[in-house]
Amino acid sequence: MLNQGTSLKNLNTFALSMYATKVLYADSISTLTNAWHEAKKAHQPVLLLGAGSNVLFVEDFSGTVLLNRIKGISHTDDSTTWYLHVGAGENWHQLVCYSLQNNMAGLENLALIPGCVGAAPIQNIGAYGVELENVCEYVDVLDLNTGINQRITAKDCRFGYRDSIFKHRYREGFAVVAVGIKLAKVWRPILNYGELNRLDPLTVTAKEIFNLVCTLRRNNLPDPTVNGNAGSFFKNPLVSKKRAIQLLKHYPNMPYYQQSDNSVKLAAGWLIDQCSLKGHRIGGAAVHQQQALVLINIDCAVAQDILALANYVRKQVASKFAVWLEPEVRYIAANGEINPKEYFS
Ligand code: FAD
Ligand code: EPU
Repeated sequence: MLNQGTSLKNLNTFALSMYATKVLYADSISTLTNAWHEAKKAHQPVLLLGAGSNVLFVEDFSGTVLLNRIKGISHTDDSTTWYLHVGAGENWHQLVCYSLQNNMAGLENLALIPGCVGAAPIQNIGAYGVELENVCEYVDVLDLNTGINQRITAKDCRFGYRDSIFKHRYREGFAVVAVGIKLAKVWRPILNYGELNRLDPLTVTAKEIFNLVCTLRRNNLPDPTVNGNAGSFFKNPLVSKKRAIQLLKHYPNMPYYQQSDNSVKLAAGWLIDQCSLKGHRIGGAAVHQQQALVLINIDCAVAQDILALANYVRKQVASKFAVWLEPEVRYIAANGEINPKEYFS
């Protein structure tokens, strides 16, 4: 533990008892840039954080954690489209509720995803057949060194599965400050994912989709306020078509999702489940009983428990299926984000 520091326990949904030298809340662009320059003057690292629902602190953080809390939702429209401009510090689920309350449909499949709007473009959040890229118009990014704000169109965000330009070119020294969302006024329900196909496309309302998504998520995913977690710990792996066909010969019931680039996405949760790892526990960390893709803090876990469990799961899946899972969760060490490979054993 750092001698002088601020607890991060309530600032990461794994609820790990970690510390940072300093934690600052920023509700304006000037607060963000001032905090950045002050930290740089002191040669300290800075970590931009929303709600901490996609991070694993592997060590105490030796610098300033900057919580982006820039607020505000405004909207305009034309004959075909609703346009929302949303501050990065708004809560994502509250935005979904706000849009539906104002009769702007289109975000209902993305209900109950934890976190702030500013983090949504970073991994291109997705659930139940919709990804942020389907509704994003632009992302406003602040260069913390120069104070210059840049609007990046959705096309230039290079969105991919759990990926975007913000994990690459704009990773260090930039803050997402707002997101532009566009929703078509002629609404089309998206019901092709899992249990949503039980809804009737001719009569269904956006509110009904919202309600079913919330019910499914509450049934399948652990509540971080009860058992700390960061949602799916690993990404669903992409394999070649050839490899998928080989696996399907051995495991004909294996779920798979054909991708437009000819690769095939496998369900990491199913792979882990097939290794009989549900409930498997190392120290205070466990594989969730309902959703094997989620690792939980079951009882006062420390980072080493979660790291050891993640490594164990990866090795078990690799030895059964010859597929190596990669974390979706961002590993944060003392000086900032670190490549999870550094912690693989
Ligand atoms: P944080 O965890 O605070 O940050 C995530 C990363 O983004 C970090 O690297 C951080 O440095 C960076 N960052 C955050 N804000 C900014 C900013 N303003 N500017 C620049 N960088 C920034 N994800 C999905 O895609 N689909 C799901 O269905 C889903 N379900 C989940 C369910 C549960 C129970 C949990 C706990 C998580 C789930 N997640 C899901 C993961 C998580 O909700 C998303 O990744 C979310 O967008 C993270 O938001 P956050 O504000 O908590 O980001
Ligand atoms: N499955 C199992 N056992 C399990 C878990 C899943 O057999 O323990 C099977 C399911 O039966 C299903 C398949 O695996 O056939 C896929 O499961 P599910 O529909 O629950 O989705 P997922 O692939 O596990 C992904 C996202 C979630 C998102 C859901 C719903 C990733 C890494 N995860 O999970 O996102 O909410 O789809 O769209 O893509 C997150 O990113 O944190 C997250 C929770």
